[in-house]
Amino acid sequence: MSSALPRHGLSTPTATTEQASAPAATASAASVSAVARPWMLAAVFYLLAGVSLGFYMGISNDHTLRPVHAHINLLGWATMVLTGVIYQFFPRAGASRLARVHFWLYQIALPVDMFCLGLMFKGHTGIMPVLGVSTTSVVLAVALFVINVLRHRS
Ligand code: HEM
Ligand code: HEM
Repeated sequence: MSSALPRHGLSTPTATTEQASAPAATASAASVSAVARPWMLAAVFYLLAGVSLGFYMGISNDHTLRPVHAHINLLGWATMVLTGVIYQFFPRAGASRLARVHFWLYQIALPVDMFCLGLMFKGHTGIMPVLGVSTTSVVLAVALFVINVLRHRS
């Protein structure tokens, strides 16, 4: 329904909905920092992957991959959104070289880790050495994140 009423309370009383929402959308996109954005964009893919696996588990009644589902959602979706939020609020940490190392180490290690975890729970125990390296890399990336935030917290 076309209406002159403001949709999010951001428009001026004289502006139409279309006139008001375009600048509002531009302003909110610009206010997400360049470092928070890729974390949040990556996170939405993990949400889709996590809920899809959960959906498959539900309809198949095969819960073998429950820990993979849990960690795709938690280390993927939840942790990545929160990482983006923290970098948004700690811009000096977000601008550091450590933030770039953290991003790439995490983004490379986590999908490998989740894939290997799935293989392991499906009985492919030969994957353990790769799983060990990828899990260690995820933990290392998290440690770099913590060091980065503490070092650049002011
Ligand atoms: C439509 C979306 C989802 C579906 C259909 C779904 C489905 C499931 C199923 C079938 C299980 C196994 C339960 C069991 O074996 O007892 C499970 C477990 C789990 N799910 Fe989901 N899930 C969904 C979304 C999420 C999201 C968004 C998160 C986290 C942000 C999440 C976190 C977990 C966790 C942590 C467990 C393990 C719980 C435990 O240890 O008992 N799930 N889910
Ligand atoms: C690299 C980091 C992590 C490692 C190595 C790890 C490891 C583990 C292990 C070994 C289990 C037991 C799985 C089983 O019983 O089969 C587990 C379960 C669980 N972890 Fe993690 N975890 C990590 C990160 C996290 C994070 C960040 C969260 C929450 C934000 C989380 C939440 C959970 C939950 C809810 C369960 C129970 C899931 C289930 O019942 O399947 N974990 N984790």
